Amino acid sequence: MGYSAIVKDAPGDFSVKPNIPDYKKMREEFRWEKLSEELDWFSDTQINIGHIAVDAHLKTDRRDKKALIWESQKGEVEEYTFADLSRLSNQFANVLVKQIGIQKGDRVFFFLERVPEIFIGILGTLKAGAVIGPLFSAFGPDAVKDRLADSRAKVLVTSPMLKKKIADILPSLPHLENTMVVNRRNAHLSPDDISYEAAMEQASEDFETVRTSKDDFAIMHYTSGTTGKPKGAVHAHNAIIGHYATAKYVLDLHPDDIYWCTADPGWVTGTSYGMFGPWSNGVTQVVYEGAFSAKRWYTFIEKWGVTVWYTAPTAIRMLMKAGDGLPEQFNLDSLRYTCSVGEPLNPEAVIWGQKVLGRPFHDNWWQTETGAIMIANYPVQDIKPGSMGRPFPGIHAGIVDDEFNELPEGQEGNLAVKPGWPSMFRTYWEKEDLYRSCFKNGWYITGDKARKDEDGYFYFMSRADDVINTAGHLVGPFEVESVLIEHPAVAEAGVIGKPDPIAMEVVKAFVSLKKGYTSDEDLLHDIQTFVMKRLSSAATPREIEFIDSLPKTRSGKIMRRLLKSKELGLPLGDTSTLEDD
Ligand code: PRX
Repeated sequence: MGYSAIVKDAPGDFSVKPNIPDYKKMREEFRWEKLSEELDWFSDTQINIGHIAVDAHLKTDRRDKKALIWESQKGEVEEYTFADLSRLSNQFANVLVKQIGIQKGDRVFFFLERVPEIFIGILGTLKAGAVIGPLFSAFGPDAVKDRLADSRAKVLVTSPMLKKKIADILPSLPHLENTMVVNRRNAHLSPDDISYEAAMEQASEDFETVRTSKDDFAIMHYTSGTTGKPKGAVHAHNAIIGHYATAKYVLDLHPDDIYWCTADPGWVTGTSYGMFGPWSNGVTQVVYEGAFSAKRWYTFIEKWGVTVWYTAPTAIRMLMKAGDGLPEQFNLDSLRYTCSVGEPLNPEAVIWGQKVLGRPFHDNWWQTETGAIMIANYPVQDIKPGSMGRPFPGIHAGIVDDEFNELPEGQEGNLAVKPGWPSMFRTYWEKEDLYRSCFKNGWYITGDKARKDEDGYFYFMSRADDVINTAGHLVGPFEVESVLIEHPAVAEAGVIGKPDPIAMEVVKAFVSLKKGYTSDEDLLHDIQTFVMKRLSSAATPREIEFIDSLPKTRSGKIMRRLLKSKELGLPLGDTSTLEDD
């Protein structure tokens, strides 16, 4: 706030005409039906994301165009055309249907590194009419178990290394009938495993994609809330209209682009914009298997001539930290358009992009639940650094008070969106009441606080709940607290997000110990390792503070608000509810 700089006309490389010619005009004229007509439907009501992403291109001159260029951590390169992906995903669909007996609506989960097989498997699963559920490869056994148990997934596609990590939880999942192992390095497989390679070898390359209805479930992504375990946000095949439209007009994808989305396929950005958005637009994308490294990332952009780049604020802040001298050692002239999502993007990061890379970052906002970008900066409008931009044409966003009435410009309140856009989530898996509770007075309530200025630009203020956003990963404090209290030394635990200059927030835990345990460094590390092994590194408390007892309501609920105020050195405010509900 208070940052008045404007990046004039958000300069992109206008030698390529932006897909969105005029924001206001497009808003006035926008019709989802028109966008939907650009896609290859089976009938008025039948569409399939897998078909739209790859098979639809086979009838065009994009048939032999590269769809995926993959580079491994070690530098090996594999390239797949749309025709290749179509054929391989057909084989995978045949494996599921003919060899395993998967039926429409069954859940097929992926716990796999960022390898080509995850893309092939996801496309094949969708073509088979089943529901995909991608999981972060960084998850530990508890995080995987919760999601597989809740979704009652029938198949898990994994790798030898990741399977080893979760071997102990597999026997406790009665619905999980098959584990398929992608064995790129020829490891020894257990006799119970289905070998991906052997199964694919036997499978036919011909498959007739299931004629899914636009309302059939297609995608499940688990997302964390304040209370309870993560819930599965479910999207239907209709969502592809939203992926297609926003990739075209927000990411400004053009036929000759080389597009790079740095998100992991375990995250909704990694599916909506790491698969369906670019491929429904027939665009070539490059994927880097490895983790973040400033030098490797710049090398990757230069090597492949990346033109459109979609990344996240924590990564941008890490690039800034790596120094302005580093990008000077590379030729990054190919970059035409750069976007960011997932956390608040500091104004300095927008300006840094402009100064050092020659392109400002275009921030945009959305959620697992919204399925596609809702609010964005566009190539044809000024960026106000610090703002997420304006609603996508066809999206009506507003700020509402706690009674869910719309507030005037300038006032902070709950960020809300009028329901009915194509990629809107359809339910939280088997938690319909929770789903319904998100809709109030004709709005979908996002759970974020924001404000809107007089030009219709939105500014993120904070989350309305206790969910922690660490490097773009949402971490539910309840999930971490539940694991912490399973540690033999821990009596009680309260978890909050602590502000961090790079990751925006990191997880901090307040812990009281059981009698007989002493707080020392060894115990601290032991507790950290305990959480890391079960959940993930993102969910692991970076800091643990040992305290005698935690502030609680009478019913025993930990008062995170007080812990947070204490941490930030803020006045403790109204403590009259302390020990009271
Ligand atoms: O709090 C907002 C934050 O991330 C949440 C959505 O996270 P998730 O469901 O994991 O979706 C990931 C797909 C983007 C939002 O409720 N968030 C997302 N984008 C922004 C953001 N916060 C500030 N600025 C953004 N651009």
